[in-house]
Amino acid sequence: MLMAVRKPLFTPWGVEGEIDYDRIIKEFGLEIISDELLSKLSKLAKGLHPLLERKVFFTHRDLPWLLSKIASGEKFFLYTGRGPSEKTHLGHLIPWIVTKWFQEKFKAPLIFQFTDDEKFLFKQDLSLDKVKSLALDNALDVIALGFDEKLTFFLFDTMHADLLYPQALRIAKKVTFNTVKAVFGLNQSSNIGQIFFTSMQAVPAFLPSVILGKNIPCLIPMGLDQDPHFRIARDVLPRLGFYKPACMHSRMLKGLTGSAKMSASKSPNDVLFLDDSLQVAERKIKNAFTGGRETAAVQRSKGGRPEICSIFNYFQYFFASDEELSIIESECRKGLRLCGDCKKQLIEKVLKFLEQHQKAKERAREKLERFFFSSECLRKVLS
Ligand code: TYM
Repeated sequence: MLMAVRKPLFTPWGVEGEIDYDRIIKEFGLEIISDELLSKLSKLAKGLHPLLERKVFFTHRDLPWLLSKIASGEKFFLYTGRGPSEKTHLGHLIPWIVTKWFQEKFKAPLIFQFTDDEKFLFKQDLSLDKVKSLALDNALDVIALGFDEKLTFFLFDTMHADLLYPQALRIAKKVTFNTVKAVFGLNQSSNIGQIFFTSMQAVPAFLPSVILGKNIPCLIPMGLDQDPHFRIARDVLPRLGFYKPACMHSRMLKGLTGSAKMSASKSPNDVLFLDDSLQVAERKIKNAFTGGRETAAVQRSKGGRPEICSIFNYFQYFFASDEELSIIESECRKGLRLCGDCKKQLIEKVLKFLEQHQKAKERAREKLERFFFSSECLRKVLS
């Protein structure tokens, strides 16, 4: 008898087991970012970010359409976000770094949404006060990355409910419970706030069009796990007379314990928090899962396996130039370097980055309110 094989979970609220990217591309109906598309983007932007060159951002929806709008001189805006359930970790930075690159290259405004409502609804142990304070803390990390304060607009779902809720209702009216069950795996026992939530995440993708009274193209850089929200949004928005947002997805950064997606809900040791003290970060990296062999002797003769190594993953996504990366990879495969060598090299880079980030976060406090959403300022930069 054939047994039903349960597919590993891959939704915004849970990633289980290894990630089968090919299966997800097919199931979600995504397009691969081709070399041809990258070279079009490179022409417009006069260069590419390493996260694009290295195909960490690897799939999209309607990116050619968005690029043609840019090429014809039309204004567009960026949209991305954070669900404040914890302190910010290294994985969150991947979409934000690329978003910042787009902002710098095209002087595009960015709507950044903090879904404190989402995390209150989905995390049993979090109070409303806690998610609101985490949202403000996470916002400081975003500012510390260096987004342009004149072009960046923070929306906090509970604080800006008056602006968001009427638009979320328009989405909610067009999404059935069946759709939400099928797309997110929600069920009869899900609380009713969870069922409604996706309509809140759809709003920033068309809010500027509502405010300006005309359609404005939108590009959403995100980690792949967020795509289900925008499958729904893209289905509904044309029915309300708006453009579908274009989307770009990154692969997930591995966790330090070897999990396929760095995530604080697995274990604090899986995650490098941007607030970790230098000692804690060093300890976590020293204990990280690697692609090393049972003994140093075996590793010297057989070589290591960068493809499964979390340390190599951090070099690939953040902490190595092209030249460094190719040296690390070839020395590892040939057994010329051991995991201790890589860990030492990574610790140096990470500690330097954390030190700089933590200082910048301190300075961000005084700027916070300047980043709060303002319809008037958005209208100015988009008209
Ligand atoms: P959140 O807070 O779970 O994650 C914020 C962003 O970080 C990405 N991400 C990762 N990317 C690579 N590797 C990882 N290990 C990793 N972990 C998280 C997520 O995909 C996300 O892009 N509901 C959203 C907040 C949100 C949002 C948006 C995100 C609101 N509007 C628009 C993207 C676009 C959330 O809880 O994300």
